[in-house]
Amino acid sequence: MGTEAGNISQKVTAADIRAMKGRAKIPSLTAYDYPLAKLLDEAGIPLLLVGDSLGMVVLGHPDTTLVTMADMEHHVSAVARAKPRALVVADLPYRSYQTPEMALQNARRLVAAGAEAIKAEGGRAMHGQVRAIVGAGIPFLGHLGMLPQNVREEGGYRIKGRKDEEKQALLEDARALVEAGAFAVVLELVTPPVAAEITKSIEIPTIGIGSGPDCDGQILVTPDLIGTFPWFTPRFVKPRLNAAEQMREAVRSWKESL
Ligand code: KIV
Repeated sequence: MGTEAGNISQKVTAADIRAMKGRAKIPSLTAYDYPLAKLLDEAGIPLLLVGDSLGMVVLGHPDTTLVTMADMEHHVSAVARAKPRALVVADLPYRSYQTPEMALQNARRLVAAGAEAIKAEGGRAMHGQVRAIVGAGIPFLGHLGMLPQNVREEGGYRIKGRKDEEKQALLEDARALVEAGAFAVVLELVTPPVAAEITKSIEIPTIGIGSGPDCDGQILVTPDLIGTFPWFTPRFVKPRLNAAEQMREAVRSWKESL
């Protein structure tokens, strides 16, 4: 694989993503269906995440906790049909990985649907699950910081790392994921200095979302970037396109042309 974004000549593997640390930024985006996966792949994105954010931006749920394994399989298989060069990573949905056995069984279902790597939320508490998945030869992407699947327990989406005990917990969680065999870790809504410190202190790439500029890569929920879900945009995202307005305008002009 060429390691510069936009210069990828062969299928991207989890090992390629890991090897990008310190060599090139890792631009990553979410994809939920065939055309989006094809377009992002054609633009040279090396990592496509079939995120459980699809619960909100595709299925219209209030948060990610209502997403099912069947939903994930449906969308993973649509993305896989695009046969992207990008690595296709799939989220294990809420309560689908409570034990190592469950995690492995559901990871295998997503791999059967077309995923090439699996992501799930949590650090030290996930050690057994990560070991089981990686031990079965399935690459694992960690997810630390604000964990959207905990939104109901935590009563909202809160930035992590402001208190010293949170920073220490994040560092320990990141080390636990490295030790269990993760190939990279997403840091969501972590304070930028703490995200920078984690990035320096672990040997696998960090992929930030709302966690400042010093991570090894950045990931966004694609509808936030291109404006196809205009009813909510996180504060840290600067959309590059207002696709919703362009779509409304195209439809209005077609309607008026009749
Ligand atoms: O589900 C998702 O889209 C994610 C990203 C926010 C990293 O987990």
